[in-house]
Amino acid sequence: MLAISDPAAARTAQGDAANAALVDVRNVTLQYKTSSLLVTATDDVSFTVDQSDRFVLLGPSGCGKSTLLKAIGGYMKPTVGSIAVNGRPVSRPGADRMMVFQEFDQLLPWKTVLHNVMFPLLATRRLPRKEAEERARHYIDKVKLTRAVDSYPHTLSGGMKQRVAIARGMAMQPDVLLMDEPFAALDALTRRQMQDELLQLWDETRFTVIFVTHSIAEAIKISNRILLLSPHPGRVKAEVRNVDSIKADHAEAGALEKRIHDLLFSETIEEPGHVQR
Ligand SMILES: Nc1ncnc2c1ncn2[C@@H]1O[C@H](COP(=O)(O)OP(=O)(O)OP(=O)(O)O)[C@@H](O)[C@H]1O
Ligand SMILES: [Mg+2]
Repeated sequence: MLAISDPAAARTAQGDAANAALVDVRNVTLQYKTSSLLVTATDDVSFTVDQSDRFVLLGPSGCGKSTLLKAIGGYMKPTVGSIAVNGRPVSRPGADRMMVFQEFDQLLPWKTVLHNVMFPLLATRRLPRKEAEERARHYIDKVKLTRAVDSYPHTLSGGMKQRVAIARGMAMQPDVLLMDEPFAALDALTRRQMQDELLQLWDETRFTVIFVTHSIAEAIKISNRILLLSPHPGRVKAEVRNVDSIKADHAEAGALEKRIHDLLFSETIEEPGHVQR
């Protein structure tokens, strides 16, 4: 049987686990206010993420996935609700939450791979220079970029740039790594390879990651838990909690993809997300 819970059940389960959760997102509504429009990106979204979860936010374009990630990153504040990481309310960006974005141009072009990865370690005074270099080289090795350590970003492929961004995030050893469609701009083969490498890295270090995608196949491949969001404005539709055990069963894995597809696309939008002020 597919263990897909409805939002109400998920909320109950979340209440039980609330004390232990690494990331606690409670009743979060996120809005953008422009001079003429109030855009509700997410509405009353609640979920928790535990240590070492590969937690995927899945939903159609515009459902507020990036907005949710930005809020967890501390780049915007909820209009309603609260977000806590490790029991501390999120009020600003912090080194405990490192982001990896979709864009290839998130590196500093005037710094080499090594110095890009070292940069946050030095800027936050996390480590002295020698230790920062050791740590950076360790993660550069892990993402298989040893030979490119002294290269500049403009000489790297898109996949290599994303590996640098992942190494930079991981080198900070954050409480949670926030990844916003990090492989979406890659070709299909590289994308698959990067997904495999991310899982291999996770096997080695068991980091906690919140991963945004609108690809059902990618969500199933990457995750141990998937939160399904409805179209604009994003609301929690369901949560799939035991993806690893479902994936182990070939027949169930196939059924899961179809079930998620039906859940995501069967319902119409209940109310408009854009409200004229
Ligand atoms: N800076 C902004 N100002 C106003 N509205 C915004 C802003 N950023 C996003 N939005 C709106 O908020 C809603 C959610 O956007 P968001 O980027 O979070 O969606 P998403 O799920 O990440 O979509 P995608 O899969 O296309 O990346 C959309 O309606 C979008 O137009
Ligand atoms: Mg997005």
